[in-house]
Amino acid sequence: MKVPFIDILRYEPHFYETVSTKACELLKKGQFVGGPSVGEFEESLKNYTHTNFAIGCANGTDAIQVALRAAGVNKNDKVIIPDMTFWATFEAVVNVGATPCTLDVSRETLHLTAQSVKEGIEKFKPKALLMVHLYGWACPETLEIRKLCADHGVIVIEDCAQAIGVKIKGESLLKNAHVATTSFYPAKVLGASGDAGGIFTNSETVAKTSRILINHGRTDHYEHGLVGWNSRLGAYEASFMVEALKHLDARLESRRHVCSQYRAKIKNPLLKFITPSADVWENGYLSVATMEPSTRPAFIEYLKKNDIGYGTVYPGAMSEQSGAKEFIGGKISHGHADWVAKSVINLPCFAYQTQAEIDYVIEKVNAYHA
Ligand SMILES: Cc1ncc(COP(=O)(O)O)c(C=O)c1O
Repeated sequence: MKVPFIDILRYEPHFYETVSTKACELLKKGQFVGGPSVGEFEESLKNYTHTNFAIGCANGTDAIQVALRAAGVNKNDKVIIPDMTFWATFEAVVNVGATPCTLDVSRETLHLTAQSVKEGIEKFKPKALLMVHLYGWACPETLEIRKLCADHGVIVIEDCAQAIGVKIKGESLLKNAHVATTSFYPAKVLGASGDAGGIFTNSETVAKTSRILINHGRTDHYEHGLVGWNSRLGAYEASFMVEALKHLDARLESRRHVCSQYRAKIKNPLLKFITPSADVWENGYLSVATMEPSTRPAFIEYLKKNDIGYGTVYPGAMSEQSGAKEFIGGKISHGHADWVAKSVINLPCFAYQTQAEIDYVIEKVNAYHA
């Protein structure tokens, strides 16, 4: 059997037909950018995430850039970010002219802790924290971190590219974020049929500025109150995602099943499965385990030999990327992010993965000896 790391084409019956029909209608009407399908998507997204404003844009990296600027991050401001994230987090800070400073993460939760953020605030005196929620979880100390930052006058922007559908203490993670962003890259839990992203906030001012920034700084058709850029959401993408959102809960349930089956049934002592904290409702974006770094390469070879896809999300800390040298404003490291980068292993996980595929992975992983 062959089990891919991810298969983005496992749709519900009739999904193809529905989205194709809707795409043809848009083509016939010449609705390509913006329009009713974008409005409909934003409305359903706002309801799904329990936020006051949900704004579609061109991709998840733009969404972070828009959010940083709309929240008040300016040129030369310092922004603290976790050292373990996707490169777009670092890039977005640089692209708005601010300076990223990286903080170490926990080896147990793989995320920032309130303690690491406190150290970062004391050392760097940042304007903002760009908190990242990875793997389909919420950063376990989200609520403490939000409060800590509020007490110190540090703006919090939350990169939820991997966290749509995640709940913390029974509520949507995005609901109480000052400003949060996401990516609808096709491989995400709510994927578009191309690039797309979103910005979420409860602040009318942040929402208004975000809409201006994504549309060439327009305050009227030919009046430009800000220097923004073109980050508008396409109509096809929005129409595709209106349909995808209707199936999102079923897709997440299916992904969660995969994660929980691995955790319950894989008994190989070489792998330590990481679970989100008890008050977090995961979306099943990724299955995450860690292994001693020296054991990972041989295990990866074994997975390849058995036709099992895998991921190492992410194989390098941000501060260690060659592109970081010119821009990084400082780092606090206890070596944990580097360790995570060498230790993490992700097994196949996607919506509508079959029980036979799940069982095959479990059987092969349990049979592995170093
Ligand atoms: C944590 C994180 N932030 C930002 C992004 C950027 O999103 P996009 O690829 O849509 O620009 C991603 C996408 O992979 C991500 O995983």
